[in-house]
Amino acid sequence: MSQSGLVAIESAADWVAADYVDVDDWSETLSDTEREELERATRQLPPAMQDWVTLKPADVPLPRLGARLGRVTDDLERGRGFALLRGIDLPPDDFDTVRRMKWVLALNLGDVIAQNAKGEMMGSVQAEFRGERTADTRGYVSSDELRFHCDGGDVATLLCVRQAPIGGTNSLVSSVAIHNVMVRECPEHLSVLYRGMPLYMRKESTSSGKLDSARLPRIPLFRVDTGQLSCFSNLRLMELAYETAGIPMPDDERAALDAFEEIAERKAMKIEFKLRPGDMLLTHNLAVMHKRSAFEDDPDVAKARLMLRLWYNVRGGRTERLQTPQQRRGYFTKAPLIVQDDSR
Ligand SMILES: [Fe+2]
Repeated sequence: MSQSGLVAIESAADWVAADYVDVDDWSETLSDTEREELERATRQLPPAMQDWVTLKPADVPLPRLGARLGRVTDDLERGRGFALLRGIDLPPDDFDTVRRMKWVLALNLGDVIAQNAKGEMMGSVQAEFRGERTADTRGYVSSDELRFHCDGGDVATLLCVRQAPIGGTNSLVSSVAIHNVMVRECPEHLSVLYRGMPLYMRKESTSSGKLDSARLPRIPLFRVDTGQLSCFSNLRLMELAYETAGIPMPDDERAALDAFEEIAERKAMKIEFKLRPGDMLLTHNLAVMHKRSAFEDDPDVAKARLMLRLWYNVRGGRTERLQTPQQRRGYFTKAPLIVQDDSR
């Protein structure tokens, strides 16, 4: 125990880079049988995308691959907090089928939630935005580096359809490991993170994106519930909360965030790898943070880096007793849809 009374938390999600050196050792590669099963299930989806929203896992069962997905859920919920599925046989020129495969996998993993104010449940991560970013430009539409963060929902998934020739490396770091390092090295900063930081809500999600500086709602970066540590952090949105309110971040919060990020960025703490087409990365947001390095796209737009992003909640998962149903719904929306614009 540190002098502040904060204690290290024992968890299977307390890992460092040396524990996962070779991606081949911890990734899960689909067998031929599982690939065929996924392909068959994909063909069972209704033709109209909007009809997918109300489907249940039993409508597109994956008896064999489902067993592997069950192990993945175990790894996410009770283990290291991340997983990588490899060898998903994506048809390179058939984006509709790629989306279908992703949806079938998602249905068999959990309850998909909306990830933006439009209510979209599947998002394309692509460098569409060129120019100067504002507070309301979401990072995933640029080719810039994205700093360590958590997404919405229990689990964030990223299916690699096409990779960039240069950059675009993914990194993961254990939030539990960062916590335990802070207990030893800088408990005074950790106390600040337990107290919480304000989080900027982008204008797309609320009627007023700008926070009222007198009533900044604080989101704890760490909380312990029945012995289990949960972390939620988005460094950039915490900075933007103050920047958009026009007030400087207090010194103790700035120092705590800097310490948190410095530890996350240590070579010994984070693992780095580059997704290949047919890879799906899954991270449990309460245990692991993710980031992406800047990338340079292929000049041919048809070959540009493309990832399909989707967030879901684990049925019967650890957050069910921590959050209200409303908190678990992701972006508030009455009419969730798969994607709004089907022109791609
Ligand atoms: Fe993300």
